[in-house]
Amino acid sequence: MPRTTLRLQTPEFGLRGVIRRLGWREWWGNGQRASDLARPIVISARNLDKFYGDFQALKNISIDVAEGERVVICGPSGSGKSTLIRCFNALEFHQNGDLEVQGRAIFEGSRDIHRQRQDVGKVFQQFNLFPHFTVLENLMIGPLKVRRVSRAAAETLARTYLDRVRIPEQADKFPRQLSGGQQQRVAIARSLCMESKIILFDEPTSALDPEMINEVLDVMVELADEGMTMVCVTHEMGFARKVADRMVFMDAGEIVEEAAPETFFTAPSTARCRDFLQKILQH
Ligand SMILES: Nc1ncnc2c1ncn2[C@@H]1O[C@H](COP(=O)(O)OP(=O)(O)OP(=O)(O)O)[C@@H](O)[C@H]1O
Ligand SMILES: [Mg+2]
Repeated sequence: MPRTTLRLQTPEFGLRGVIRRLGWREWWGNGQRASDLARPIVISARNLDKFYGDFQALKNISIDVAEGERVVICGPSGSGKSTLIRCFNALEFHQNGDLEVQGRAIFEGSRDIHRQRQDVGKVFQQFNLFPHFTVLENLMIGPLKVRRVSRAAAETLARTYLDRVRIPEQADKFPRQLSGGQQQRVAIARSLCMESKIILFDEPTSALDPEMINEVLDVMVELADEGMTMVCVTHEMGFARKVADRMVFMDAGEIVEEAAPETFFTAPSTARCRDFLQKILQH
């Protein structure tokens, strides 16, 4: 869909528009590109805290993601990366702070939660395909049951996006008959069938054999090139360098560093980030 159409769908006027524009100014002041001033913010998190019992998994997290932006989040195990992106599509809830995604406030008990989960695509490490459905049926079920489109329209969508992830010939197979890389591409196509404007990726290649990683990353690069808004938790730093507009480094529940890839990889400003990059770039 052309970006102009997306822009028209986003509320830009009135009080919300003013707040958003003020938000951009603040965000730009934090080192973002001037060109991003023209893009609406589609994820806005302000001072989020998230607790699991007594344990604080997210500490005062503030981050904005603009439409069409590609943000890559990395950081050590247990630093809160999955928790943060699970908050973005209401699979977890923060306790303090404010979170707005595509103009919708996310909070525990909101009546919009189902819409939120449907409207924001998510691709997990595990593919979570229905084993007893064929690939085509896996792709059709969301549009049929959730978006309530006709069977013919659901099949058209499914075949279109199966083509997009370059496995149209796998339509009638069951997930167990596919390689890991192919299953993950079906999982990406499933998100695309919901026509989500944002896709969240949580280590989509970390369960794959090395030879299958690139085929999934290639599809992700294509999506990025087409202007999809993407938030990716990944340690695939080659991919990150290629597509990220912005790198985010988390540690112990905090955003420790946020920078354009060029700066992030060549001149990380904190020792924690330097240590982390040294470790993962060694391999
Ligand atoms: N449901 C839960 N109940 C209690 N603690 C949790 C729960 N989910 C996550 N945590 C804890 O919150 C912290 C952050 O977890 P999270 O899964 O977000 O980390 P992560 O950065 O994604 O790690 P990894 O790289 O290993 O996937 C961890 O210490 C984890 O043990
Ligand atoms: Mg995780």
